[in-house]
Amino acid sequence: MNNEFFVNLVYIVSSILFASGLKFLGSPLTARKGNFLSALGMLLAIVATLFSGHLISFQWIILGIVIGTALGAFVAVRAAMTQMPEMIALLHGCGALASVFVDWTAYHVHGAHDLTGAITLYLSIVIGGLTFTGSVIAWGKLSERIPGKPLLFAGQRIVNLGLIISIVVLGIMFLMNPARYDLFLIILGLSLLFGIFLVIPIGGADMPVVISVLNSYSGVVACTTGFVIHNTLLIVVGALVGANGIILSIIMCKAMNRSITNVLFGAFGAVVKKKADGEKKDAKAVSLEDAFLILENAKSAVIVPGYGLAVAQAQHAVRELGELLEKNGCDVKYAIHPVAGRMPGHMNVLLAEANIPYEQLYEMDSINPLMETVDVCMIIGANDVVNPASRHDQSSPIYGMPIINADKAKTVFVLKRSMNTGFAGIENELFYYDNTRMIFGDAKQTVQGLVAEFKNAAK
Ligand code: TAP
Repeated sequence: MNNEFFVNLVYIVSSILFASGLKFLGSPLTARKGNFLSALGMLLAIVATLFSGHLISFQWIILGIVIGTALGAFVAVRAAMTQMPEMIALLHGCGALASVFVDWTAYHVHGAHDLTGAITLYLSIVIGGLTFTGSVIAWGKLSERIPGKPLLFAGQRIVNLGLIISIVVLGIMFLMNPARYDLFLIILGLSLLFGIFLVIPIGGADMPVVISVLNSYSGVVACTTGFVIHNTLLIVVGALVGANGIILSIIMCKAMNRSITNVLFGAFGAVVKKKADGEKKDAKAVSLEDAFLILENAKSAVIVPGYGLAVAQAQHAVRELGELLEKNGCDVKYAIHPVAGRMPGHMNVLLAEANIPYEQLYEMDSINPLMETVDVCMIIGANDVVNPASRHDQSSPIYGMPIINADKAKTVFVLKRSMNTGFAGIENELFYYDNTRMIFGDAKQTVQGLVAEFKNAAK
């Protein structure tokens, strides 16, 4: 068996592993398996590439692997679940930067010989450059190292348009004369700059879409780099990542009732810290004891988990409360909003970790028609995803985003620590509704308190 045949064979096996990995990632029950299969595919691909016979020396590669593995393991072990989105943003950025370096090296060593080569190189450095800086800005916003709200300045659109036109015009000049190293560097520089300007005006509740769009771009750049260095596996993997990133972006845009162009160019969330409209009433708090009495008599309860549940790590306590409610004859359902938490599937993962039965999880569209018949809706650490302003207040930054209609339940309990806003930075009028009662405190302690009430009552 010659070397090239063997390498291609391994590449095919890796591609199958990646595709099945993605398939398994589609359900929380099989997600671990999917992750493992994809990692195995990547390991095989790296080993096959290293032994493909094209490499002259290994020392730099080994150094890179050692540093990369140590850094990656260190960061991954330290990252809390709630920091995943910012870590993912950083990883996309690293992937894009790696692709840019590979393209740059290929250009430096071999140049671009024909038009096709020059086009793929051009696309690679443009998408790779803007994905890198865009991802770094997204990481900064999500980790609150830079302000998370949209950053707007006068003439922003003109600057962006100028950058796009320059990148296109210089690109045409480069394609006509691919030997011009100066153009290559200027295009790369402008693309890096464009990535910054592309992401700084985006913020608030739009960040999840930005992350998945950047995810998609990092796949596209891997794909174009595959064309630049003639590596089939990179083309396949890049296409897979690019396609799944764009599908995810579309799903999330639908969930938020927005278009991708609107997210990228509309400066959504620019209005922050918006006050709830209308006559300002006082939010009514309720004690644990009183909340327990209402829950004890409830025949149906819907639990809406949100980011605060993840922060409080209340998932195990919530499962215990759910079980006690069921034992007491109450029908318990969990309502999952597609952008609750800080990453796609965040709530599913969290509840699965606590072994909450998957059949009890309802997506927004399935639970909303039932909400009017529900006795108690318990909102645990969620805020933006239950804000009714999105249904009627056209001036609200989240106007049009579908929400879980928690307010339609007969009684609404909101478990949070204060009257603070959620991710989008806007006040929630639901807290002031007549049927809403606030239970202030850390979500885990509050739920544990309710569990204790149920246990005491059973004694
Ligand atoms: P948020 O609107 O962010 O609200 C979370 C609430 O949890 C806060 O109001 C906070 O209030 C409360 N909280 C925090 N720590 C708590 C604790 N220890 N105990 C009890 N409550 C606690 O969350 P959400 O409703 O899940 O909405 C998600 C938001 O994040 C959306 O705007 C979404 O667009 C955005 N986002 C989503 C993603 C994805 S893909 N899911 C990614 C990035 C951004 P207190 O401070 O008063 O406790």
